[in-house]
Amino acid sequence: FVHQLADESVGLDELLESPLHLAPEPSLPLPPDLYGAERRNSAGVDLTVPSLRATLEEALAQTTVPAIALADPAQVPAAVDRSLAAGEGWSRVPVAERAAALRRAADAMEADLPRLCALLVKEGFKAWGDSVAEVREAVDFLRYYALQAERLLQPVTLPGPTGESNELRLTARGAWVCISPWNFPLAIFTGQVAAALVTGNSVLAKPAEQTPAVAAEAVRLLHAAGVPRDALQLLHGPGETVGAALVAEPRIAGVVFTGSTQVAKVIQRALAAKDGPIVPLIAETGGINAMLVDSTALPEQVVDAVVQSAFRSAGQRCSALRLLCVHEAIADGVIAMVQGAARELVTGDPAEWRTDVGPVIDDEAFANLQRHLQRLQREAKPLLPPSEFDPRTRMVPPQAFEVTAVDQVKHEIFGPVLHIARWRGDPQATIHAINRIGYGLTLGIQTRIDSRAEALAREARIGNVYVNRNMIGAVVGVQPFGGEGMSGTGPKAGGPHYLTRFCAEQTVTVNT
Ligand code: NAD
Ligand code: ALA
Repeated sequence: FVHQLADESVGLDELLESPLHLAPEPSLPLPPDLYGAERRNSAGVDLTVPSLRATLEEALAQTTVPAIALADPAQVPAAVDRSLAAGEGWSRVPVAERAAALRRAADAMEADLPRLCALLVKEGFKAWGDSVAEVREAVDFLRYYALQAERLLQPVTLPGPTGESNELRLTARGAWVCISPWNFPLAIFTGQVAAALVTGNSVLAKPAEQTPAVAAEAVRLLHAAGVPRDALQLLHGPGETVGAALVAEPRIAGVVFTGSTQVAKVIQRALAAKDGPIVPLIAETGGINAMLVDSTALPEQVVDAVVQSAFRSAGQRCSALRLLCVHEAIADGVIAMVQGAARELVTGDPAEWRTDVGPVIDDEAFANLQRHLQRLQREAKPLLPPSEFDPRTRMVPPQAFEVTAVDQVKHEIFGPVLHIARWRGDPQATIHAINRIGYGLTLGIQTRIDSRAEALAREARIGNVYVNRNMIGAVVGVQPFGGEGMSGTGPKAGGPHYLTRFCAEQTVTVNT
């Protein structure tokens, strides 16, 4: 044990000082009264598994995905006219009333959970568990931003000399363009829109082409909760036309974008090319996310974290694990366990309760994955049975490959594909290699040496670091989420600084 640590450049002193974590207790079932005897959400939907399953299956049978009208880029100027006019009134509504509208929408989403889940399964190909978690996240965004806005949007009195008063005020900026991806079509869409609205802005929302019906449903609930129709407009259509026309519009006040790094840069260039005001861009983008595992890590914990992080949601999470860097001393054992665990996952129809890994979102995503996997079959060592590539199902069962170096993975691969690299020597060197990739979204660290975890986290230029657990599923208000470098501009969604970026700041100094 000490010999292995020495190989990883840990001094004996550090080892003796570091309390070793013991294996975690197996998680115990929570006492039922923690959720109330029947485990209902605030709208009374019974969340106990048998009941939830029956409710969701009934909703699935009754839900069809409605067609959503396409916007024409030529409609954008008129939509901005309406947005600016509605924004005038909305910005003057007291923040407590805007927050109350968000809370009413949150309650309505909780009540509508079964139907929203069914839409997420049918339109977004989400597995059931992921769909329930996504509705939860959207509700959390609404309630968290409501609370934050009430706290933040109060004027702050600042000190000054006698005879002078100073006040700092946060005010609305105007019409925000909210552009969102398909992989969290409810949560990310709702989070962006809620943040812009509660700070008094109006919104022109452009959801992903693949998932407009989920977005339209969120808009319907927000309108019903009291947000004026023109203060929140949905413009569904291709990013290259409708999205680009919104970004190019001279009168918009800001753009909040979640999606690929490549499109974020297209938007950044388009905003910079316009005459007139400097328009702020909040961009939350992709990642090549790694997990560093040292020889003290607990293999069972590692494997659980790897399987969740790499394969849940069919790997279609920006936070998902792409690159497992495992110390050579335990690599064979960890790889064997990952192979065993991955084979247990059920790939199939997301409407089936037992499905762990559903299909990838569309033909283009499927073709991209197919190309990448075919290249890996030639250039890396396959560790799991190859995918059969049936374009009719777009199913890709979990895939894992051993690569020779951290920098062999050059682009974000958006699917259930894990790359595994062995490392030896100084773990800091591996963190530096991960930093050099240039993304900075999520990082997993698995070690039982506290001081090492802390040192590696400090060295990492990465927005969300998870120690000894999985690295997905950031909780609003608990793990503020967002990256740096090629992974985004910040501020972090679901964090205390997010709303301020949607506001203008005004300092008023009065000579009394
Ligand atoms: P994408 O970049 O292809 O599209 C995102 C949105 O941008 C869509 O609504 C699209 O229509 C629009 N768009 C495309 N071209 C545009 C243009 N020229 N002008 C304006 N809008 C345009 O991304 P995607 O495939 O929908 O989503 C997957 C990507 O999102 C992955 O890279 C993933 O890592 C990233 N993502 C990041 C986060 C995060 O929080 N960091 C969260 C989820 C997804
Ligand atoms: N917020 C999502 C996660 O953490 C992307 O997985």
